[in-house]
Amino acid sequence: MPKKRILSGMRPTGKLHIGHYVGALENWVKLQNEYESFHLIADYHVLTTSLDTSDVYENSIEMLIDWLACGLDPIKSPMFRQSQIKEHAELNLIFSMLITVNRLERNPTLKDQIRDLNIENVIYGHLGYPVLQTADILLYKGNAVPVGEDQVPHIEISREIARRFNNQYGDVFPEPEALLTKFSRLTGLDGNAKMSKSLGNTILLCDDVETIKQRMKKAAIDPNKIKKDTPGNPDACTVYSYHKKFNDENIGEIDSDCRNGSIGCFDCKMKCAAKISNFLEPIIEKRKYYESRIDEVKDILHSGEIKGRKVAEETMSEVREKMKLG
Ligand code: TRP
Repeated sequence: MPKKRILSGMRPTGKLHIGHYVGALENWVKLQNEYESFHLIADYHVLTTSLDTSDVYENSIEMLIDWLACGLDPIKSPMFRQSQIKEHAELNLIFSMLITVNRLERNPTLKDQIRDLNIENVIYGHLGYPVLQTADILLYKGNAVPVGEDQVPHIEISREIARRFNNQYGDVFPEPEALLTKFSRLTGLDGNAKMSKSLGNTILLCDDVETIKQRMKKAAIDPNKIKKDTPGNPDACTVYSYHKKFNDENIGEIDSDCRNGSIGCFDCKMKCAAKISNFLEPIIEKRKYYESRIDEVKDILHSGEIKGRKVAEETMSEVREKMKLG
């Protein structure tokens, strides 16, 4: 039995934060041993919310460095830019005929983005975001897509498009499934449901000890825990949700110390900051390695693009054949 395939990706918005790691990247690294993996830098998708492309290349390299620093292995997991493989655009066009505008307007991830970014007029390409994402996944016949929770509605659309294509032209594509982690969504420092660069509530994977402490000081806590010794409710506290992920071995103690008022929020935050820094230490080390070897990073990208392109070309000829186009 050949290994099943993974295709996943992220938009290159620059350096990644711990929400990216917890929501997706951790899973990518683990799964690259079980699946044949492909990872995409979704640089065309950036255009859905910003037409300024001047930083896209640099941001792509920064993101790639974070991926490598977290343990993605370029031999097991080719990594490539969407814009460098023309088949993404080609399959996107075909898929855009297989889904209705109505269906795309019902996409809750789009609605959230419109609200968060105060978008007044939605561009055509933004509405079509999940269609391009479907092309990304299905060009590589991805069976599984490890992503954060906010992406699940997109994968549902991908399944519908795959089904529609297969019914119309014959079986080519698998119906991809989202693979979620236990912490598929990490709360932002301010308590917002999502950690996101545009909301300014992140801890970056490259943040040093001092920065993390400073960021942590501002983290949202149970608003009723007014003084150091007031009993608190950990379930209403963002810091506690980070302890759950990064300090799991002491979670019982943190929980009871908070509830009986024997720990103040400042101390609790500093404990959490130390745990996060510990966790990030090896990632930061590896990041430094790649930062000083940018040529090696670029080589990794180019060989990823050669491998990706080969698969994408094969799928596109199969599509053209089934559709009797050419
Ligand atoms: N929409 C994804 C995100 O925001 C990025 C993405 C683009 C993607 N293409 C993909 C994810 C294909 C998984 C599969 O982060």
